[in-house]
Amino acid sequence: MSAKVQFASRIGLIAATVGSAVGLGNVWRFPAEVHSGGGAAFLIIYIGCVVLLGIPVMLSEMVLGRAGRSDAIGSLKRVGASRRWWVVGGIAIAASYIILCFYMVVAGWTLEYFVDSISGDLFAPLSATADESLNAHFQAKMEQYITTSWNPLLFTLIMIVINTGVLIAGVQKGIERMSNIMMPLFFLVLLVFVGVALSLPGAGAGLEYYLRPDFSKVTPNTVISALGQAFFSLSLGMGILITYSAYFPAKERLTRTAVTISLLDLLVAFMMGLVIFPSITSFGLDGSEIRGATLVFVTLPEVFSHMGMPQVWSTFFFFLLAVAALTSTISIAEVTVAFIVDRFKTSRLRACLLVSLPLIPISAVCSLSMGLWSNFTILGMNIFDFLDTFATNILLPLGSILLCIFIGWFAPRSLMYDQLSNQDTLRSRLTPVIIWIVKYMAPALIFIVLVSAFI
Ligand code: PHE
Repeated sequence: MSAKVQFASRIGLIAATVGSAVGLGNVWRFPAEVHSGGGAAFLIIYIGCVVLLGIPVMLSEMVLGRAGRSDAIGSLKRVGASRRWWVVGGIAIAASYIILCFYMVVAGWTLEYFVDSISGDLFAPLSATADESLNAHFQAKMEQYITTSWNPLLFTLIMIVINTGVLIAGVQKGIERMSNIMMPLFFLVLLVFVGVALSLPGAGAGLEYYLRPDFSKVTPNTVISALGQAFFSLSLGMGILITYSAYFPAKERLTRTAVTISLLDLLVAFMMGLVIFPSITSFGLDGSEIRGATLVFVTLPEVFSHMGMPQVWSTFFFFLLAVAALTSTISIAEVTVAFIVDRFKTSRLRACLLVSLPLIPISAVCSLSMGLWSNFTILGMNIFDFLDTFATNILLPLGSILLCIFIGWFAPRSLMYDQLSNQDTLRSRLTPVIIWIVKYMAPALIFIVLVSAFI
């Protein structure tokens, strides 16, 4: 049973958890939010959200996981939650599985772009006669890579197989080992990109745009978006941190760990801004292109085409992205794997297959809903967007709010104190502040985020 398994080293534990946090949220959501939220004005608000809310909520999940030493539902039961509170773990598991289904498709796209960067297909003319602008070229390639039926299905399947392999190998030999190799590589490649972007001619204008706060663009919605972004980026509300913390050793200092993880995640987002904004201004591209998928799949390849050796840059960049996506999908899947192992006392192999096999048809449906089946809509959204909106805007805040209410109001008060002080062996002066935030401030603010999803 997973309770006996632990991460082998502190570095491995940090690498795995940062791997979960660092994902597409840092690469494509963050710059887009900065763009619409007034540059550094958004950055400042975002840092506030991470520090004041993200870290305390992350700690609540960690406390629960390490005290319960089980999966998202099992840990709640073990710390003495009465029957109805199991629902919180249930929501987390449901949210994580739904997110897994469409996130895996996006992970497949990143792999597809990586492979097509290596092969050169991404830059190959669409047809011998086509007289295309770079923008039109990459728009058409994106159309081709994402909305055709077979390619995205194939790459999503490959991603599922890689995920399953790592998960089957286990917490230490799979998740931890992979993160130990991939995360340092990730930081190295990102650092190279920052260096290259900052040395582009005209980078200064992008930097100025990024780092000069424009408070006139800040609205209540900016704060709500910053909060939502902080939760998504730190992988909160999905049971991931509950699940991973069950593998933390008893001597791990949770507050220090939560601060380290949050700051590293913030650092990656910040560095991504240092890559994106200078690149875009340097090549005179339109700022309106700083939107989600278009940013990474159209605008950045356009930027690479203006640089020497576009294929090389593109290969490195999509490697970066595929790693970010892989370490995140693994952590999302582990939530359900741990649940099945603990709940049904079955082998890890079986649990991994039980998670991965249904993922194949469901992810296929998500993928096809971007192309062939895009006419089928729910509330005006295709299946992919519907699942994304439902899980990200409703289930995640709902799960987090209930978790805060449970920890703040219903769990034994000693739970937080014992875990944050490692059973009274550490001083934990911040604990009362953290409890206050979890009890009052976090539920109130997350409630606003939740309500805003409906208006
Ligand atoms: N936190 C990851 C990101 O920033 C994404 C993620 C979302 C990971 C949900 C796990 C669960 O992209």
